[in-house]
Amino acid sequence: MPDNRFHTEEMNMRKTRLLTALAVAAALAVPATDALAQAAGKLKVGFMLPYTGTFAALGTAIENGFRLYVNEQGGKLGGREIEFVKVDDESEPSKGADNVNKLIKRDNVDVVVGTVHSGVAMAMAKVAKETGTLLVIPNAGAVAITGPMCAQNIFRTSFSNWQPGYAMGVVAAERGHKKVMTITWKYAAGDESVGGFKEGFEKGGGQVIKDLTLPFPNVEFQALLTEIAAAKPDAVYTFFAGGGAVKFVKDYAAAGLNKTIPLYGAGFLTDGTLEAQGDAAQGLLTTLHYGDGLTLAKDKAFRAAYSAAYKMQPDVYAVGGYDAAQLLGIGLTAVKGDMAKKADLYKAMAAAKIDSPRGAFTLGKNHDPVQDIYLRKVEGKENKVVGIAVKALADPGRGCTM
Ligand code: PHB
Repeated sequence: MPDNRFHTEEMNMRKTRLLTALAVAAALAVPATDALAQAAGKLKVGFMLPYTGTFAALGTAIENGFRLYVNEQGGKLGGREIEFVKVDDESEPSKGADNVNKLIKRDNVDVVVGTVHSGVAMAMAKVAKETGTLLVIPNAGAVAITGPMCAQNIFRTSFSNWQPGYAMGVVAAERGHKKVMTITWKYAAGDESVGGFKEGFEKGGGQVIKDLTLPFPNVEFQALLTEIAAAKPDAVYTFFAGGGAVKFVKDYAAAGLNKTIPLYGAGFLTDGTLEAQGDAAQGLLTTLHYGDGLTLAKDKAFRAAYSAAYKMQPDVYAVGGYDAAQLLGIGLTAVKGDMAKKADLYKAMAAAKIDSPRGAFTLGKNHDPVQDIYLRKVEGKENKVVGIAVKALADPGRGCTM
């Protein structure tokens, strides 16, 4: 006669084993889906960009530029179909690590592309370094990222904050100014842009007499403009971008300062902003690695394709996004789409010559572009290139020991 107690225990054990197996299968379902995506050849790109706040338009331009290049390649890079996921980083550094971890750990992206704001980008770079995730930066110029934080798996297709600042310092000194005031947001990008300006300006014999700042993304400029008016420097150097740049240029003109004290800026001051700035921006001189009126075939083709796709003109941010996709494409082509071949992937990316709308460029040892910085003058709705402020300018990469 069967032992009923034993029989029940046996049944229970079988039931438990079945449930455990089901649980394991359920747990495996996620990687199984990933394996399927892999087999289908899809490569996941995670955009971490500002889609709200003062830099919202910049984030959209970067995404547009990136997608344009991928579309031009038939939706594939290195033979892999590209799929996108995105996170709005809100230009909020305190949420930077959590947001990038959403892409890396929750969404399992193969590569992160972002962002605009230097403080957020530094949080991203730290996580990228810790997790070994490939990070391509299409804008944020934080000097530390291609300095002490530099890494094999981190690349930038835009600029370091030092680069346009330094170039404008050289130009301001050449134009004979002696005493200059600076004004910017108090955060990495503002500080570093002003730092670059100071270096170029002092080398040319100039002196920065006072640095004015306000917290990011504050736009209450009035008290500081009053201080500038009272001090009467030879000129003012500034770093502002996006919505803040629109307001600053308008307020500077409304205070009448544009008639008496020349305003110079890193080119973000007038890029993607001229529609909104209108008359207030006319005649402003800025320095940047892109501008209007370049006679390069690549730029002409890029502009035609971008304006056809998005019904608007591209700006420097769109170029950063487009070139981020180009750089990734060069790496993926070299490894035939196999992201596991990290050493070969990074080697190809580091050695890339990028056929950018700004003009072809290569990366320095610290993975920051070595590039001409143009001098531009606002004429109508354009940042007309009027010369090259500094040729083939490389970020010094101070503290990078890669
Ligand atoms: C930055 O935070 O590095 C930054 C933001 C906006 C710009 C340029 C640089 O236009």
